[in-house]
Amino acid sequence: MRVVTLHLTNYRSWKECGLAFHPQLSIVIGENGSGKTNILDALYLASYGRTLRGRDEDAIRWGERESSVRAIFRSEGGAERAVQVTLGPEGKSMFLGGRRLEGRTELVGLFPLVLSSSDDLDIVRGDPERRRNFLDAVASLLYRGYLDTLREYKRTLRQRNRILLEMALGRGGSMVSALAAWTERLVVLGEALLRKRLRSLEELGPQLSEYYRELVGGGRCAVRYLSRVDVDVDDLRAALEKALAVSAVEERERGMTLVGPHRDDLALEVDGTDLRKFGSRGQARAAALALRLAEAKLVASRGEPPILAVDDAFSDLDDRRAERLLAQTTGFQTILTSAEEARTRELLAARAAHGRVFRIRENQVMEEVLA
Ligand SMILES: Nc1ncnc2c1ncn2[C@@H]1O[C@H](COP(=O)(O)OP(=O)(O)OP(=O)(O)O)[C@@H](O)[C@H]1O
Ligand SMILES: [Mg+2]
Repeated sequence: MRVVTLHLTNYRSWKECGLAFHPQLSIVIGENGSGKTNILDALYLASYGRTLRGRDEDAIRWGERESSVRAIFRSEGGAERAVQVTLGPEGKSMFLGGRRLEGRTELVGLFPLVLSSSDDLDIVRGDPERRRNFLDAVASLLYRGYLDTLREYKRTLRQRNRILLEMALGRGGSMVSALAAWTERLVVLGEALLRKRLRSLEELGPQLSEYYRELVGGGRCAVRYLSRVDVDVDDLRAALEKALAVSAVEERERGMTLVGPHRDDLALEVDGTDLRKFGSRGQARAAALALRLAEAKLVASRGEPPILAVDDAFSDLDDRRAERLLAQTTGFQTILTSAEEARTRELLAARAAHGRVFRIRENQVMEEVLA
């Protein structure tokens, strides 16, 4: 998949902005605050049907009533399709060609985009929830129905927690059989999630270590699933039941479900060092990039290669790693942003890269062709 053109009208800092992307490599260069991330945000909106940061309505340019983003995408086969997303006082409307879409789910997946932003450092260094969300997103790309199972699991979890809370407060005397029923449901759904997460990791892990090695030029990056459930056995269902049984007393004391997919985490290691706590900033950035590249590879293995967008592409990377990043993006249409003009131009010259540079100056986009 590739994005041919992108138009922003009253979108965040942009009154009007139009870009015609290069089929392979496009680089947006501009100072801090010049609107680079806003451009990627608009692309994200066209692909996922929601903004990357904050609420949709926050993306309307201050002082304006309505904003719109239009994109033309072209598939590998050459078919072009236009998407328009409009944000206004009546909310959001999305159009594919001329047809109005019912909701985001109709759009998601049609124009695959993998976006790496500076927030991705939190996948490596932030709370377990960030890593769970990342893995859930990958699993939902690979397994149809995963998101539905996840939603059902969360609903079941809320019900079960409500009962446990009553019990913890001493009011749940008559709820023992209800608890058993919710536990059974939780186990069924939890097992399905665990199995698909583990399978997703089996595919993601090798890609992650390969991309990390390519980016860094060495180092073994590995990812492992962390759980109070013993996930090294075939019978995950029995393992989950056992873990729940072990913590049953504690659960009733604390009034919540203490084991299961909602409590799990990923360990990310380089040469045995836990990146979550001890990695350098550059190592964490490289791992975050490698995770996104691995995600892009998995998406490509299921269908169209996604568009790859990397915000602040070269920050936290030394020159060698920055050059290696450029080398790793072949195979995807790639859109990079950078606030470091001189350095970016040197990197591009060193690689004799073909592509297009968009230079933002005074709220205008100037386009240059790289020889
Ligand atoms: N709804 C909005 N209306 C007008 N301006 C907005 C809106 N939302 C964000 N902005 C402005 O957009 C600007 C930030 O743009 P953006 O984040 O794209 O910059 P950037 O080029 O990515 O900068 P950096 O290099 O620091 O990452 C900010 O100055 C912010 O005030
Ligand atoms: Mg930015």
